[in-house]
Amino acid sequence: MERIEAERLFLRRFTEDDLEAMDAYSKNPKLGFNAGWKPHETIEDSKRVLADFMANDEVWAIVEKDSGKLIGSCGLHHDHKRMNPKARMLGYVLDENYWGKGYIPEAASALIRYGFTEMNLDLISVYHFSFNMRSKRVIEKLGFTFGGIIPQARLLYDGRVVDDVCYSMTREEFFEKQ
Ligand SMILES: CC(C)(COP(=O)(O)OP(=O)(O)OC[C@H]1O[C@@H](n2cnc3c(N)ncnc32)[C@H](O)[C@@H]1OP(=O)(O)O)[C@@H](O)C(=O)NCCC(=O)NCCS
Repeated sequence: MERIEAERLFLRRFTEDDLEAMDAYSKNPKLGFNAGWKPHETIEDSKRVLADFMANDEVWAIVEKDSGKLIGSCGLHHDHKRMNPKARMLGYVLDENYWGKGYIPEAASALIRYGFTEMNLDLISVYHFSFNMRSKRVIEKLGFTFGGIIPQARLLYDGRVVDDVCYSMTREEFFEKQ
């Protein structure tokens, strides 16, 4: 199976064996609330999402090398705000038990490298909601360029209308930093 290596983690494709671990962290309201999706309520919700992950090439499972455990996901999704097919949008969530160890910056930088060197992307975008200061900090640490705010960009599952805070990294910006 294809793997993307990082220091303490690796990324691989999701399999059916990931259902239980993914279901456990996806029920935590702090993940969906901050990422914009409804926290999973039943195993059926997780089965649907897992089937979607397995059917497309966008999302990678994050595995901690020491424990061998699935601890979150990181993806390069189609960016519906952009028409360039070689632009992708970074997304990530991490099991709350593993927050604060720098794991998402590590996983995301490995995936960004893969995006520019293996997928030949032109641009990677990333967005966070204005109240999500943890994600803001991750984005700063990854070296993205702030692009602006789209007010009232999203209507969420719970009726909230929220702004998108927008960032991007072009291929040129990525290689300049190497
Ligand atoms: C956002 C998330 C992915 C962060 O992952 P992580 O691996 O814990 O990230 P880090 O270990 O780098 O820690 C987050 C950083 O935010 C900082 N931080 C934490 N709370 C903060 C706050 N309230 N305000 C500002 N910064 C904060 C931490 O100090 C750390 O920065 P530092 O390394 O400079 O000290 C994780 O919290 C998560 O899964 N959140 C829910 C889902 C989500 O928000 N997804 C992103 C949608 S855009």
